[in-house]
Amino acid sequence: MKKESSQDKNQLLKNFNQELSVSSPGRINLIGEHTDYNEGFVLPTAIDKKIHFQFRKNSNSEKCRIYSKTYKTYAEFDPQNLSKSEDSWKNYISGVIHEIQKKGNKIEAFDCIINSELPVGAGISSSAALECGLATGLNELFDLGLSQLELVQLSQAAENNFVGSNCGIMDQYASVMSKKDHLILLDCRSLEAEFIPADFKNCKILLLNTNVNHNLAEGEYNTRRRECEEAVKIIQKGHPEVTSLRDVNYEILKASENELSESHYMRSLYVLKENERVLKATEAIKSGNLKEFGKLMYQSHEGLQHNYEVSCPELDFLVEHTRNKPFIFGARMMGGGFGGCTINLIEADAISEYTKEVSEAYKRKFNIDLDAITVSPSEGTTITK
Ligand code: GLA
Repeated sequence: MKKESSQDKNQLLKNFNQELSVSSPGRINLIGEHTDYNEGFVLPTAIDKKIHFQFRKNSNSEKCRIYSKTYKTYAEFDPQNLSKSEDSWKNYISGVIHEIQKKGNKIEAFDCIINSELPVGAGISSSAALECGLATGLNELFDLGLSQLELVQLSQAAENNFVGSNCGIMDQYASVMSKKDHLILLDCRSLEAEFIPADFKNCKILLLNTNVNHNLAEGEYNTRRRECEEAVKIIQKGHPEVTSLRDVNYEILKASENELSESHYMRSLYVLKENERVLKATEAIKSGNLKEFGKLMYQSHEGLQHNYEVSCPELDFLVEHTRNKPFIFGARMMGGGFGGCTINLIEADAISEYTKEVSEAYKRKFNIDLDAITVSPSEGTTITK
């Protein structure tokens, strides 16, 4: 890997005749947080904000050259000699190339230009969009014949093995598999998916970006995952049939209560209840009951705040601010936590006035500018040429 050289970059940009272009979306998650790596249920979908990629093969070289127009960063990779970088975005790229090659495929030199509409650190999974867009592009460019599910799984593996984040499968699955105007009810154990029409009536999805990203996030995420695995091991002593928190019901949890530490108990209780909420929320949206759906969103936030302990004052403030507003049905923190966005189900014609009001209140309280993004459920990663 090599540092930016303006000569190399200019050469790359000059006469860039693309062979292929790909768009890969960020994702929202309506409900089902931190359940994916516990083999539970999630309800995500892709959004209409994306990362765009242009690709071409480069038979004159042995290097892969990548330029991000958004961040004005350039990098070169030798696919036969990949190493970890201090720059995390490069690790997503090396990770994907590495995982594709691990499956017995050869990646030859290519050029790629990236343009992103996704804010980084907002909890809308710009990382999954980057991995999945690159994986999809390379699969097509080099005719590798990998299935969509293989692209999802190798993108997740890239993040686990090369970036060092022990993430579950939700983000990559949503980024690749989503269908326009639908939510995905995904069973993260069997990977069975049901596509649910995203009928929000007169409401829209509003994301409020705290613009904070407390740097504990990555470490705490891996810690939560470890705590869940520890809880499973303890519960297994009395209930060997339990292989993940997905299998734990109230009876089993009660029977194991004395063996579990307080935090192991709280994490387990949260996962149990959040899985129940995802299934109830799916029924609510199917029957058009937005009130019930919103109630479950608030309960999810409370669980994440008090039992799973992955929220932060900025997220809690934004959720509290929506309470008792008749035009807002539900709100909660979204994604890994410790910053990023809240997701709000709000009547479309109230969005602009509410955004103004909450932005002022947020600025007064934290002296930070809030960003508001209205998003709609969209199709997954698409090859556009
Ligand atoms: C991050 C991870 C996902 C998931 C969420 C929490 O976005 O990448 O796998 O665990 O956090 O629901």
